[in-house]
Amino acid sequence: MAEDKLKDFVTAVEDEVVKRSYNVNYGAHKVGITQRESADYYTNWARTGTYDQDLSKGKIYNGPIVAGAVLAKHYPTNRDNISILDIAAGTGYVAEELLKYGFKVIDALDPSEGMLEIAKTKGLYRKYICEFLNGGTVSIPEDEYDCCVVSGGMGEGHIPCSGLHEMIRVVKPGGLVCIVMREEYLSYVEDYKDKLEPLMAKLEKEEKWKRLSRDVIPNYSFNKNGVVFKYEKC
Ligand SMILES: C[S@@+](CC[C@H](N)C(=O)[O-])C[C@H]1O[C@@H](n2cnc3c(N)ncnc32)[C@H](O)[C@@H]1O
Repeated sequence: MAEDKLKDFVTAVEDEVVKRSYNVNYGAHKVGITQRESADYYTNWARTGTYDQDLSKGKIYNGPIVAGAVLAKHYPTNRDNISILDIAAGTGYVAEELLKYGFKVIDALDPSEGMLEIAKTKGLYRKYICEFLNGGTVSIPEDEYDCCVVSGGMGEGHIPCSGLHEMIRVVKPGGLVCIVMREEYLSYVEDYKDKLEPLMAKLEKEEKWKRLSRDVIPNYSFNKNGVVFKYEKC
């Protein structure tokens, strides 16, 4: 095959792979999907054994790489003593990045048994907590972690706005809450539109936390922008 034809062929195959991944991922974010349906969808997806391949880190989905780099910058030293709760941990992409930077004390929270089954096979976390982060109280004491991080856990049928209260509760005063998410969800996910950022601001006014930064980043996933929020608990 001539070189340019081969290039077109490779591009077409890659486009097909991305399209398929986008559609599979959309299945977990369909408008109106409930939290339970979404978690079960992830479990089925994980049990097909193709999740990590479909949302390939560093190609299609870069949230965990960004989250790892943000935490590494925030904690330049003494990383092995920093306790981190990886919320919506999934199959452990974020922990894979954190371990590369020398973080060692990382717990996983995720409501999808199937996703956590895969994370367990990788042996990345100290604890595996199979629970939803939503308006209720998770089985974690107050002020437990130095940091909590969310990558890919915000979206339709995922962590609701009310989950912010728990993020703050489980982190120690002075600790970090880092949320990495797709930027466009702020404008069309019903639970977030005109609600998520106003709630973040209200919590800041109430001196529950203080914003350190809000950065828009390119190519978070499927070539779409992401947004990274960093807050310090008061
Ligand atoms: C796209 S995956 C991201 C997984 C991992 N953080 C990563 O970056 O690869 C989204 C994860 O969010 C979890 N999730 C959905 N709703 C949640 C909730 N209310 N609380 C905590 N995790 C949730 C799902 O079970 C799923 O594992």
